[in-house]
Amino acid sequence: MYEQECVPFAPTLIESMRSIGYSFSSAVADLLDNSIGARATRIDIVSEPSENPSLIIIDNGCGMSDKKLYEAMRYGSSNPLEKRDDSDLGRFGLGLKSASLSQCRKLVVVSKHDDEINAYSWDLDYVIEKGAWMLKGFDTDEIRAFPKIEKLLNMNCGTYLYLNDFDRVREGTKNIIETFNERLKEMEDHIALLFHRFLDDNLIITVNNREIEARDPFLTYHKATQIKRESKIHLKGETITLKPYILPHLSKLTEKDFEKAGGKENLRTEQGFYVYRNRRLIVWGTWFRLERKDELNKLARVRVDIPNSLDYMWSIDIKKSTAILPDIIKKNMYNAVYESVMGSERVHTYRGRKEKKDDNIEYIWERMKLRNGYEYVVNRNIPQIKMLEETLDKEQVKMLDDVIKVLEESFPTASLYVDAAKGNIEEKKAVEGDDKTEELWIKLQEQIRYIKNNGLSEKEYYKAFYRVEPYCDNEIVRQRIKKELEKYE
Ligand SMILES: Nc1ncnc2c1ncn2[C@@H]1O[C@H](COP(=O)(O)OP(=O)(O)O)[C@@H](O)[C@H]1O
Ligand SMILES: [Mg+2]
Repeated sequence: MYEQECVPFAPTLIESMRSIGYSFSSAVADLLDNSIGARATRIDIVSEPSENPSLIIIDNGCGMSDKKLYEAMRYGSSNPLEKRDDSDLGRFGLGLKSASLSQCRKLVVVSKHDDEINAYSWDLDYVIEKGAWMLKGFDTDEIRAFPKIEKLLNMNCGTYLYLNDFDRVREGTKNIIETFNERLKEMEDHIALLFHRFLDDNLIITVNNREIEARDPFLTYHKATQIKRESKIHLKGETITLKPYILPHLSKLTEKDFEKAGGKENLRTEQGFYVYRNRRLIVWGTWFRLERKDELNKLARVRVDIPNSLDYMWSIDIKKSTAILPDIIKKNMYNAVYESVMGSERVHTYRGRKEKKDDNIEYIWERMKLRNGYEYVVNRNIPQIKMLEETLDKEQVKMLDDVIKVLEESFPTASLYVDAAKGNIEEKKAVEGDDKTEELWIKLQEQIRYIKNNGLSEKEYYKAFYRVEPYCDNEIVRQRIKKELEKYE
């Protein structure tokens, strides 16, 4: 045997590496991962509209020494099999260069660390010209000529990226300014979602001086979002944490809430697991085929936190936009949340399986068809509960829900059954008769007063009361509600 080194040919390999499949947004996200990994608390993205657009990213992270920067520029700078710091968002040692050069032909990296400033650049045309992995280096004067570099020069440490010659964007469009602006907009939305947990913490990301607002897909800020009990899966000494959320009923969502939740039309498709690797969102809106994306579960979203030490168990790809989880993890994840998510959703939105006698009436007790029988639950959509919920804070809503649940669960089915069999159950209380009518009307007025005092819409509530027990059972009360409603016509 003899050996012979076989070095990859730079111009072709560097060109092939561009086609890993990054989108503009996923490429930028990979660059931001590096800044976050370097403990940056502020990242500024600057891009002015131009026929020859560029993108500048400046972070106030720890920066790199000359040696470290040189290493970082090398393809395959870190070993994907190595154990990573548990806040590290990197993996393959490729992101910095392959993400940038997937979109443009020139990448300049300037980094400041311990009062030392260094710069290198990958320039695809230069690599082709030289036919070798030839990096360009710059001295201080040359560094000062880069656009917007003053910002980095005024910082103690940090890193500056300058991406330009966006051939990949230019190729597909006649109007590069317009297309580039669209890309920037998509990128902003993407960043707002992927990094929402960092943005909600202490990270600031700006795009052309405008701060990006976190897009929390669980609407945790909303008082009617239900947060279910967290559960943990232990695996090879590591822990996966699951936290289910049920978004508020649609009637409680404003336009802005819908936007944050991913759009009104998309609620159904965006349900499912939201998988985070070190708090950075990787995949979302999927049940991994363990559950259908049902209308009934459309408000259910489960936050899954996986530490990077388990990377080897799931195949995360270089662009961090897909992740294939082993079946065993998927099944465990699903079992851990089945009851809290599918169970509670059934109560709130299992419209399809509700056994209803009359579609025009909201029954207080609903008969639910389960897999092996029936269950009676209190309809949380009746106005009597809704109006209370709307005036309570998140914790109180949860307590109210818990109280109703306890009542439901402690329902004395067995003794009711015995009494009913013996004929000992009184008929349903009368809902007609003058006294009863007045009693119902007074109760209703009390509630309307509460509704008014709390700034809720009386009209909507009158409409709801018209269809709900016990008011809908009393014809005179119904007529009076109708009259009230006519006043709004
Ligand atoms: N903005 C940055 N600030 C400080 N260090 C950085 C920055 N970007 C990249 N690096 C360093 O360069 C290395 C290589 O980055 P990259 O090519 O994205 O691969 P990976 O993130 O998988 O390690 C990183 O591990 C990090 O040490
Ligand atoms: Mg990286």
